[in-house]
Amino acid sequence: MVDIEESADRVAVIGTGAIGGAVVRRLRAAGRDVTVWNRRSSRTAEMVELGAVPAASLGEATSASALILLTVTDHAAVRQCLDSVGEDLSGRTVVAMCTGTPGDARSTATRVAGLGGQYLDAGLQASPDMIGAGAATILYSGSPTAFEQHRATLGLVGAARFVGETPDAAAVWDLALFGVWYDAQLGLLRALDVVREAGIDVVEFSDTATSQLGHVVAGVPATVSELRGATYPPGPANLVEHHTVLRQILELRAGLRLGDGGLPEVVARIEALIAAGRHGEGLTATIG
Ligand SMILES: NC(=O)c1ccc[n+]([C@@H]2O[C@H](COP(=O)([O-])OP(=O)(O)OC[C@H]3O[C@@H](n4cnc5c(N)ncnc54)[C@H](OP(=O)(O)O)[C@@H]3O)[C@@H](O)[C@H]2O)c1
Repeated sequence: MVDIEESADRVAVIGTGAIGGAVVRRLRAAGRDVTVWNRRSSRTAEMVELGAVPAASLGEATSASALILLTVTDHAAVRQCLDSVGEDLSGRTVVAMCTGTPGDARSTATRVAGLGGQYLDAGLQASPDMIGAGAATILYSGSPTAFEQHRATLGLVGAARFVGETPDAAAVWDLALFGVWYDAQLGLLRALDVVREAGIDVVEFSDTATSQLGHVVAGVPATVSELRGATYPPGPANLVEHHTVLRQILELRAGLRLGDGGLPEVVARIEALIAAGRHGEGLTATIG
């Protein structure tokens, strides 16, 4: 094990796939000392040309560095890597830079703590291209001390945002944000599917669909304010009116290859609120 003082300025990047490769390029462009290890060693050749030092083993890479970035497929791969390190990681910070569930983040945090290291979970709101262009945002959670200690280095990879001290906070943010994109994109796909089936020109339709998506974006601050204030004004429609339209959309979506988007649960929730006398409230009441 290399002394922690000697390894203080060196970063280990474990996994030089699409994300790991982009991270190494960014760190090397900023002149940082980087050690790389990849399961298939042939994949580190380009990184070595950029000045990264190849480690002969995973243990050699983690031993050489105070900051260890695990840019591998998933948390199962992260934990497999940690199992094969199997040595004391005191004074070192391990960052899991992969998409995972809150449960994944908690399990990996426990494993890192068992090895004596500090843990940061990272949610990558970024593609390799965005990392390369310096346009990435990366969400971190876990040890605030580790985040402050390595903030400057993490900031080289992308805008570094600390979102909470529980190890799973970044995973909740990350998956919730991906969920926003999927819900909007799948809503658009369902709409395009039904209009095309009805013989309507999808290009003409898409202009209005774009405006409709804009209404969602414009309504974000008001929705959050309603939630925080626990008041749910009807806005453009109350729950009775929403109920009518949602049932009509359900009929329109019957038999769609992408299904109905979970609308029956929403309709049932609105019916329960109406039965409780809350018919005059708006849609935010469904989560209030
Ligand atoms: N690419 C994107 O646009 C993007 C965007 C946001 C988030 N992410 C997330 O970032 C993470 C990495 O994605 P990626 O695109 O970089 O994937 P990738 O290009 O497929 O690279 C995966 C890396 O993980 C390594 N690996 C897999 N299993 C391993 C194991 N058991 N032990 C050791 N190494 C292992 C691979 O090594 P080998 O080369 O030996 O196979 C490779 O270096 C994923 O969680 C992904 O969801 C990616």
